[in-house]
Amino acid sequence: MFGAAKFSPEQLDIELAWIDAHVNGQPYGVDVLAPAATDAAADAELDLEALERAIPTRHRAFVDALAQRHPIPPPTSGAIPQEFSGIVVSRAVLIQQIDIALGHPIRFLVSALGPFAPSVMHRAKRQGVRIGGMCGSVKHARLHAAAGADVVIAQGAEAGGHTGEISTLVLTPQVVDAVAPIPVLAAGGIASGRQLAAVLALGAQGAWTGSLWLTVHESDTDPRVIDKLLAADSSQTTRTKSITGKPVRALRTPIEAAWEAPDAPETLPAPQQGMLMRPIHRRIYQNGVTPLMGHAVGQVVGQLKQRQSCKAVLDDIMRELVDTVERVQSDLSS
Ligand SMILES: Cc1cc2nc3c(=O)[nH]c(=O)nc-3n(C[C@H](O)[C@H](O)[C@H](O)COP(=O)(O)O)c2cc1C
Repeated sequence: MFGAAKFSPEQLDIELAWIDAHVNGQPYGVDVLAPAATDAAADAELDLEALERAIPTRHRAFVDALAQRHPIPPPTSGAIPQEFSGIVVSRAVLIQQIDIALGHPIRFLVSALGPFAPSVMHRAKRQGVRIGGMCGSVKHARLHAAAGADVVIAQGAEAGGHTGEISTLVLTPQVVDAVAPIPVLAAGGIASGRQLAAVLALGAQGAWTGSLWLTVHESDTDPRVIDKLLAADSSQTTRTKSITGKPVRALRTPIEAAWEAPDAPETLPAPQQGMLMRPIHRRIYQNGVTPLMGHAVGQVVGQLKQRQSCKAVLDDIMRELVDTVERVQSDLSS
C-alpha cells in the first residue's frame, strides 16, 4: 500500500509510475486521507490562507517560545523529509489524488478517514479496484460497510500514525461482528507471528502493518530517527494532537511533552495545528536536532531491535505464525 496523504498529485503520479515499473504486475494499492462525509471540510473547499491567518497569536507565541527554549536553529537549505514536506490535503487535492491513483493499475483504494463518495466507489468498482476503509471504532466501521467497502481495516489505539482510542484486542472482534461478512484486516501492534496469530484468532482475515517497516533496510526513514526507533521501548510513544490537530501516535519528544504541559494552549483543529507546527518540524529535521526529531510510530517500536530486510521480516513473521498455531493446537489437545 502506498500512503498518498503527503504527496502532491504530480508527485503521486511519479511515485506510482515508479511502482508500476518495479512490481512486475503484482497487486498494490493506494491509501488517501478522504474526509468523512460528515466532516465540514468535505462540503466546502478549505480556504487555507484564511485558516493560516486565523491561527491565534497565543499559539504562535507558544511555538516561538518553544523554538527559543530548546533551541531550534532557523531554517537552512537542508533536505526536508517527506514526513514534514506535506501539503495540507484539501478536497480539491484529494479528488486529484484519487483521479491519479485510478489512472494507474492499482487493485485496492483505501480511505484512511471516512467513506468515499458514491461516485468514487462506482468508478473504482467499474475498474475492478477493491475499496477499503480504515476505522478506529465500530461506528466508523459500520459507515464504511454501509457505503460499500470490500474490506474494513480495524486499527487499534496502539498503532502508529492517526489513531483512535480502542485497543486492537478489543476493537477487532467487535468490528468483525459488526461488518460480517465483509473481511476485516486488523492493524495496530502487529509486528510478529504471535501478534498475527492473535488477530487471526480474533476473526481478522489478515493484518495491516505500518511501524515495523520504518526500520527495515529498504526504509527511507532518516538514519538518525531509525537509531532512535531501535533504541525506544514501548512506553516512549505518545498519542498527541500537537502534530496535526488529530490524535497521532508518535515517538515522544520534548516538543510533544511541551504541548501536554499545564501552560500549553489547547491544540488547534486540523489542519491549523499542522500549519502551525510544520515549520518547526522542518527546522528540527533540516538542522538535525536529534533529541527533537520525532516520527509517527506505534507501541510495537519496543519490539524493533535490529535492522532487517523486508523479506527477512516477512519470513520471521510467517515462521512464528506457524509455530504459534501449532503450539496453541498442541496445548489445546493435551
Ligand atoms: C509513519 C507512519 C505513517 C502512516 N501514514 C498513514 C497514512 O498515510 N494513511 C493511513 O491510512 N495510515 C497511515 N499510517 C497507519 C498505518 O496505515 C497502520 O494502520 C499502522 O501503522 C498500524 O499499526 P502499527 O504502526 O502498530 O503497525 C501510518 C503509520 C505510520 C507509522
